[in-house]
Amino acid sequence: MEIQTLKQINDHHTDIIIPFSKDKIDVNLVKNLSGINRNPDFSGEGKELTILYHPEKNIKVILLGLGDPKESAKTQTYFRSCIHQNRKKFGVSVAVYLTNLEDDQIFNAVNGIVIGMKQNGIFKQKKDFILKTDHLDFITRDAGQEKIVDEAIKTAETQLEIMHLVDLPPNIKTPEFIGNTIVTSGQKYGYNVQVLDKPALEDQGLKALLAVGQGSANPPVLIVAEYKPKTINPNTPKVGLVGKGISFDTGGLSIKPSANMGYMKSDMGGAAAVFGTIELAAKLNLDVHIICIIPAAENSVDANSYRPGDIIGSYSGKSIEVIDTDAEGRLILVDGLSYLLKNYTVDYLVDVATLTGSVIQTLGYNAAGLFTQNDEMSSQLSKAGEKTYERVWRLPLWEDYLTDMLSDMADIKNLSGKPVAGATTAAKFLEFFTENHERWTHLDIAGVAFSDSEYTKMRSATGYGVRLLIEYIKGLVK
Ligand code: BES
Ligand code: ZN
Ligand code: ZN
Repeated sequence: MEIQTLKQINDHHTDIIIPFSKDKIDVNLVKNLSGINRNPDFSGEGKELTILYHPEKNIKVILLGLGDPKESAKTQTYFRSCIHQNRKKFGVSVAVYLTNLEDDQIFNAVNGIVIGMKQNGIFKQKKDFILKTDHLDFITRDAGQEKIVDEAIKTAETQLEIMHLVDLPPNIKTPEFIGNTIVTSGQKYGYNVQVLDKPALEDQGLKALLAVGQGSANPPVLIVAEYKPKTINPNTPKVGLVGKGISFDTGGLSIKPSANMGYMKSDMGGAAAVFGTIELAAKLNLDVHIICIIPAAENSVDANSYRPGDIIGSYSGKSIEVIDTDAEGRLILVDGLSYLLKNYTVDYLVDVATLTGSVIQTLGYNAAGLFTQNDEMSSQLSKAGEKTYERVWRLPLWEDYLTDMLSDMADIKNLSGKPVAGATTAAKFLEFFTENHERWTHLDIAGVAFSDSEYTKMRSATGYGVRLLIEYIKGLVK
């Protein structure tokens, strides 16, 4: 599909989508385009949809209500939903009027439309639907609006890519496959990617990552990606990102129940989020230096699997007593964090992981858990979350919670053993390896990376994290 911006509609357009905020309807524009000379029954309430068929020409005019412009984040959902529900009805050339909208609404509209065009069922012999649309044109007023459209398209395309990756089945999406995907992206968008394979991990002593991956036929890898802007000066923020890349989480010998185990293909949602962030930062040429580390492994059941009771080493040199092999995410993450801290110096450090069921008990499917000792990071990430509707909510990280994680025999254990505060004790485990970095934040995205939706019958990827992190990172650039 070809996507472009135009100043006005032309004779080829078969479908014209016109969004209006509540009570801001341009009746003359609607009458002119639809050829219907009466006031439409339409007030612009959020999600309201009216379709007008031109009496003579082969043109449909689709009026979409956006409600209060202050709630512009919802515009994304309204558009995505409108496009998804009507996808079989659109003709070959669709135009979308954006000239009347505010900047945030334009971004969200375009983003929702491009994501709404997503085609499901790629493995089916006969595709679910074939979108007839081959031209998508955004009608804008000036260069400022065009720039927003361009950024929204680039964002949506990266989100679609990572949603695709999270939705891929675990037999295809091995750790090596995730590595190759990021290498390809780095070549395409101009950032550096290195993949450390199993012998390299052994060589360098990433013992916790190796332990988690040792029960799988698909060996673990560590993906190291670096994006540098064209010029770096002392003000260029340096951001470290670490993402949990478990390609499939059976729980290991502490095996999970079989119901819904298949959803654990999404246990690399954190890896997908940080991958999407570095890719989009490169596409947008952001003035920020990003180092992105993804430990990737499959947590499998096998004679070689690591066991509950094992005491393993780690890249940091600290020893870890394994209480439960299903608490594997924190093990691979601390090797990722330590690798970053030992080999790079970063101003900001954020890790993103589908880490605990506990955070879902606490916050449900509406927000990620945020853990940090840094109030400024907490407030900036929270603001970015409100703006992008990828929301976060801060949870405690007090010293008291560490006590339960201390082991008799090793430096630390991977589970407290008490059925309470699981998201916080997991965060305390991570913090134990952060060497008191002053600007470290952990995001537990278990509830928001993969969820029920109106777009799929089963749960599917949300693309969570890319918009949040890009919005946050843009705020760091002075
Ligand atoms: N990958 C899971 C966490 C998870 C749960 C992600 C649900 C997405 C949806 C993680 O590795 C895990 O298994 N956590 C366990 C820890 C348990 C052993 C204390 C959990 O939270 O149940
Ligand atoms: Zn697990
Ligand atoms: Zn997991």
